[in-house]
Amino acid sequence: MDTKEFNSIQGWITPDEANTLNEFASKSSGPIAEIGSFKGKSSYCLSRGTAYSVYCIDLFYGYSHCVGGESYSDFLSNMRRLKCKNIHPIFGDSKIVHEIFADRCLGMLFIDGDHAYDSVKADYYNWKPKVMPGGYILFHDSHWKGDLTKIDFGQCEGVEQFIAEIDLEHVCDSDTISVFKVGE
Ligand SMILES: C[S@@+](CC[C@H](N)C(=O)[O-])C[C@H]1O[C@@H](n2cnc3c(N)ncnc32)[C@H](O)[C@@H]1O
Repeated sequence: MDTKEFNSIQGWITPDEANTLNEFASKSSGPIAEIGSFKGKSSYCLSRGTAYSVYCIDLFYGYSHCVGGESYSDFLSNMRRLKCKNIHPIFGDSKIVHEIFADRCLGMLFIDGDHAYDSVKADYYNWKPKVMPGGYILFHDSHWKGDLTKIDFGQCEGVEQFIAEIDLEHVCDSDTISVFKVGE
């Protein structure tokens, strides 16, 4: 990953989180799905870590807790400019898009969509069956204590509340990312 390229994309991924996304993408034994891509900052980190496809699921029309409105044109131009050739954007609601993925087809899932508790829970239960045994599930904004300088998205405590209920093996944390492993 190139720091200048990373810094050229608007988003909320810290340098340590970028390295964690990149590291687990490189460990993924299959395609990756990302829920919530915005303008492609995390997508870039994933893309640079793997030769597998990276599916980027987003509504791309603006989100009350993110800055700005439509993000698809910036997402596309960023991914083209940085030659992220394994990126496949999917324009849609994560609560529906999971239906087009076969069970156990993904090596890694990154959840960074709607941060409300019920939405994070729905994303987890809808998408977990799509991850192969031994694969990884990562959550962004999973904990907010400490001195991280972040925009307050208001509902981020929903992510923190939900991951406390997860029964998967906890692998590590990196800034606000929590990494879990799906059992073999
Ligand atoms: C915090 S931003 C993602 C930031 C991005 N990962 C980055 O690196 O900058 C959350 C994104 O989730 C998307 N989103 C919210 N609800 C969604 C849903 N139900 N289905 C798909 N995407 C959704 C929003 O459009 C927004 O772009």
